[in-house]
Amino acid sequence: MFLKLVFMLFFLVTLVASKDNSFIYNGFQSSHLYLDGIAELTPDGLLRLTNDTEHEKGHAFYPNPVVFKNTISESVSSFSTTFVFAIRPQYPTLSSHGIVFVVSPTKGLPNSKASQYLGLFNQSNNGNSSNHVFGVELDTLLSSEFDDINDNHIGIDINDLKSANSTPAGYYDSNGQFKNMSLFSGYPMHVWIEYDGEKKKIDATLAPINVGFNVVKPTRPLLSFTKDLSPILNTSMYVGFSSSTGSILSSHYVLGWSFKVNGQAQNLDISKLPELRTFAPELRILDDKKKSKILTVGLPLSLLSLLFMITLGIMYYIKWKKFAEILEDWEQEYGPHRFKFKDLYFATKGFGEKGLLGVGGFGRVYKGVIQSSKLEVAVKRVSNESRQGMREFVSEIVSIGRLRHRNLVQLHGYCRRKRELLLVYDYMPNGSLDNYLYKQPKVRLNWSQRFRIIKGVASGVVYLHEEWEKVVIHRDIKASNVLLDSEFNARLGDFGLSRLYDHGADPHTTHLVGTIGYLAPEHIRTGKATKFSDVFSFGAFLLEVVCGRRPIGRVGENESLILVDYVFECWKRGEILEAKDVYLGTNYVSEEVELVLKLGLLCLHSEPLVRPSMRQVVQYLERDIALPDLSSLSLSSSGLTFGYQECVEDKTMPYTSVSIAESVLSGGR
Ligand SMILES: *[C@@H]1O[C@H](CO)[C@@H](O)[C@H](O)[C@H]1NC(C)=O
Ligand SMILES: *[C@@H]1O[C@H](CO)[C@@H](O)[C@H](O)[C@H]1NC(C)=O
Ligand SMILES: *[C@@H]1O[C@H](CO)[C@@H](O)[C@H](O)[C@H]1NC(C)=O
Ligand SMILES: *[C@@H]1O[C@H](CO)[C@@H](O)[C@H](O)[C@H]1NC(C)=O
Ligand SMILES: *[C@@H]1O[C@H](CO)[C@@H](O)[C@H](O)[C@H]1NC(C)=O
Repeated sequence: MFLKLVFMLFFLVTLVASKDNSFIYNGFQSSHLYLDGIAELTPDGLLRLTNDTEHEKGHAFYPNPVVFKNTISESVSSFSTTFVFAIRPQYPTLSSHGIVFVVSPTKGLPNSKASQYLGLFNQSNNGNSSNHVFGVELDTLLSSEFDDINDNHIGIDINDLKSANSTPAGYYDSNGQFKNMSLFSGYPMHVWIEYDGEKKKIDATLAPINVGFNVVKPTRPLLSFTKDLSPILNTSMYVGFSSSTGSILSSHYVLGWSFKVNGQAQNLDISKLPELRTFAPELRILDDKKKSKILTVGLPLSLLSLLFMITLGIMYYIKWKKFAEILEDWEQEYGPHRFKFKDLYFATKGFGEKGLLGVGGFGRVYKGVIQSSKLEVAVKRVSNESRQGMREFVSEIVSIGRLRHRNLVQLHGYCRRKRELLLVYDYMPNGSLDNYLYKQPKVRLNWSQRFRIIKGVASGVVYLHEEWEKVVIHRDIKASNVLLDSEFNARLGDFGLSRLYDHGADPHTTHLVGTIGYLAPEHIRTGKATKFSDVFSFGAFLLEVVCGRRPIGRVGENESLILVDYVFECWKRGEILEAKDVYLGTNYVSEEVELVLKLGLLCLHSEPLVRPSMRQVVQYLERDIALPDLSSLSLSSSGLTFGYQECVEDKTMPYTSVSIAESVLSGGR
């Protein structure tokens, strides 16, 4: 029954999502990409298709199918994609195989081979028209068996690694002059691939990225090919990347990716792309050699002094730019809550990797010590494009800064920069609660610690909902947003942050911010967060703390465990205690465990009005009032629901990509 509902929801979701086939990833933090082979997402938000391992392949696909065909005409619609990639070989002059942008009937290409097969095909199916695969290869090795033209080319592959058309890598500058490019230089490069559904023409264009400058797409494409893709592509296909290594080692990266059917893919924001910090050592040597050559060339003294002055100017500019922040008149009144970017920069030692505490849905968090006050802080850098609504948001942030409760993380203030907002919080030495619940944690919490944390969080939420001068909806209650101070007291963090995206949101799309598994069904439907939806998330949080599992977790290869379902089944059998975390051992109070599990089920009721208020939750936990008998509420498993998505990671939805629920909303209008 419950599963049916889930499938219905899922069906609805995919159906509507497919109407608007576009997405954008400016970096892959908290993306839900399907990965296989040796592909992985790095903590920096890079998609690394292959690492330095021989004869391996890596695939990364957008998790949902994309509808390529107009159902009436059966012809492939226009589509467009743009991405930024980099290939870093072990040796500067040799690389292994390349990267392919691929459109395929399946996610991943299960029977494909690495090396010269690029993770696309194998020796028996290469060239077979039953493949239904379209690819654009960025090939860095000459494979004579596939008639490659050289070891640095771009090619259009239709069911076959013998490219239908190919040309050496490069671009046409604004004067129409051809410029060579080396695909495996190690530096990021931009690619655009477009298919014109009317003219049946494929265009591919390359351009280098000059760091710090906006990329302009060359007007003349590098490679064009006229071909009707209608017999090649099926209606519903998957899009992604494939890459392989041979006996020479190289790493293949994608930094950002945007895609759209029936229109121009949205431009990537180069400034938001993750940095490629991991230079191959050989490339570094190459760089140093280049530099030393310049230095040994004798330059006339006058030129040197000119150079010196220019350098000084540049250094001054860089310094000014480095600490640039935005301060508008209306912010004067928030004086004490504003931090100088310079101070935060020094506090965090330049936002160095060492001080990185974590990467969350909203941005990176760094540890720091404010030099003047010696205050230990956590600084969250939230990227924010739109200036719209900033004033309201800052006033809200400042008023949130006035919230004081022993179970809330104290917000000290903020700083604004171009495209960025920095929030300064109290530093919590023991990190977030999720680190103590799943995946073989170093320290396990016993029952009395867990119960205290639960009660603490509940009282923090009551304060937000009822005890402060304004109602504050948290919108993202979950274990990873609960931080632990030095005595393992729970402090809820991140409240109200998702509002940023409400204020700044494009009026045509509704951005649903929250985390799958914790989102109440009516929240998904209407996009509105309420006290009731906070109670729902709190219910999911209760179960995760008692059971030591995520709301939607993986068990085995392809199976996922929906925690609420599992707890409900245990309760129905009359053995609700069985759902508890096995690591609790025997040292627990069974009445308390039972109470929390049942309360969790009650909070997760699909009917918002049946859920208790947070005030009542506290009363139940303190056993001031008795929990109603669940059976009297005619609770059935279909009465408990989660928003459910194919990807079951506990990650905040990427607000930049079209999220599934968003499409449900637009479909509902
Ligand atoms: C590459 O990835 C594989 C699988 O994830 C891992 O076993 C291997 O150690 C990695 N190699 C390097 C050099 O990072
Ligand atoms: C090649 O791939 C096809 C399916 O795409 C599969 O049926 C076949 O067994 C594979 N052949 C080899 C030699 O791996
Ligand atoms: C193409 O593949 C199909 C099914 O995998 C197979 O029946 C057919 O013989 C293949 N054609 C060639 C030319 O190999
Ligand atoms: C570009 O590369 C080709 C082949 O590697 C070479 O023949 C040509 O001279 C190069 N052109 C320039 C302008 O460097
Ligand atoms: C793709 O379409 C062809 C016919 O156009 C069909 O034979 C094939 O099974 C389809 N493949 C998939 C994976 O749906």
